[in-house]
Amino acid sequence: MVSVGIGLAGFGTVGAGVFRALKQNGDLLAQRTGTHFEIRRIALRDPTKSRPLPAPLEIVTTRWQDLMTDPKISIIVELMGGTVEPLALLRSAFAARKLVVTGNKALLAEHGAEIFELSRSANMPVFYEAAVAGGVPIIKSIREAFIGNRFESIYGILNGTSNYILSRMTESEMDFHQALREAQSRGFAEADPSLDLNGWDAAHKTILLASLAHGFWVGTCDIKVEGIETFSNLDIRFARQLGYRIKLLSSIRSHPDREIEISVGPVLIPASHILASVNGVFNAILVRGDMVGESLFYGRGAGESPTASAVLGNLAEAALSLSSPTYGSPGPHNLYGRIKNPDSCLAPFYLRLVVNSQPKVLTQIASILGDAKIGIMSLVQSGGQDGHQISLVLMLQKAVVGVTRKAIRQIAVLPCVREKPVLLRVEHFV
Ligand SMILES: NC(=O)c1ccc[n+]([C@@H]2O[C@H](COP(=O)([O-])OP(=O)(O)OC[C@H]3O[C@@H](n4cnc5c(N)ncnc54)[C@H](OP(=O)(O)O)[C@@H]3O)[C@@H](O)[C@H]2O)c1
Repeated sequence: MVSVGIGLAGFGTVGAGVFRALKQNGDLLAQRTGTHFEIRRIALRDPTKSRPLPAPLEIVTTRWQDLMTDPKISIIVELMGGTVEPLALLRSAFAARKLVVTGNKALLAEHGAEIFELSRSANMPVFYEAAVAGGVPIIKSIREAFIGNRFESIYGILNGTSNYILSRMTESEMDFHQALREAQSRGFAEADPSLDLNGWDAAHKTILLASLAHGFWVGTCDIKVEGIETFSNLDIRFARQLGYRIKLLSSIRSHPDREIEISVGPVLIPASHILASVNGVFNAILVRGDMVGESLFYGRGAGESPTASAVLGNLAEAALSLSSPTYGSPGPHNLYGRIKNPDSCLAPFYLRLVVNSQPKVLTQIASILGDAKIGIMSLVQSGGQDGHQISLVLMLQKAVVGVTRKAIRQIAVLPCVREKPVLLRVEHFV
């Protein structure tokens, strides 16, 4: 039995979860891996804070730098959140030749190029299973199990808070604010849920998946990100009526010439598709590889224990890497691929307009769409007529995204159009 010292930076939801998980399953992990993991130091901000699980004060410090100077610590587990201090911590860990396990998707998405370069040049792998979809082992699967595949597409529901809100708006016809309040009261949304709602939490995870699957670093400015902050339950209702569900979907699609299309945003997906039944706080990832075909991963994407489960898995890998330094890929491998301009892709769309109830409105709209060579597959008019306004929902045929957006900008300024149009992509997964 080998003993490996751990420095735990962060003792919040996940950090305390890892501490608890090692107490509960440390012996099991030791039997299975031949390694006894010992938390030797814990860094946190405020030792006087009352916590559901108290930290053992004799090993607590408020300076994460103290974790670097303990020669008996071989693995640093970074669970502090934020990006500035964790980046400094990672640099310091590489310099001190300590392995790093982190769950910090924002850090990796924003500074991944530097981190993985440092990791490669120092030959020190970084382990980050907890950063994407919590307890669902998607990083390990893409990095190892599917290493013999080219990834044709990866679709993910990667943000539990948004998925919970959209699910409640669909099932119970709540409006956005009611569903958000319920998510907060049940502990499924932070007091400040902005990163969840503006799509950036899912975008950070999407960047990590895309970079790993396609071997080049995807920057935060390379992808189009939309959230659900301004979402109306009218669209949820229309989508249902048309046989769809709305999900905050991450899409990573390969095109010929190794161009990769990446987007994050609310989309309509057919109600019969398997991802449409992923509800509540659950995450799911549908991977299509050229060898394996389709594989679906489903599970809890956040929370103390599922995330701690991912960290424990990484600890076992890190221990293997300590005893066999060639084990563990440093991350994206800089082999191939580039980002496709999202405006040059083809997609069908859902368009909702609020227009004056007057003659020739449809003619004006159809004429702009016709000039742009965008076909209309179907048209639904809202039953409820609000004074002189009506809602129109048009299902648009597949067309070049940039051309569709330009046509919608023209429609938006027609005098008969009363509100900002809602344009949502429709995903058929083909
Ligand atoms: N929560 C989840 O379900 C989940 C899931 C997957 C990944 N993650 C990722 O895991 C990380 C941690 O998330 P969390 O939810 O556990 O966060 P959290 O509850 O806010 O905990 C953060 C912890 O870090 C400590 N800390 C913050 N800045 C520090 C500093 N400069 N020096 C020392 N300690 C510092 C805090 O100390 P105090 O306790 O004294 O304030 C706290 O214990 C984040 O990167 C998050 O994105 C979270």
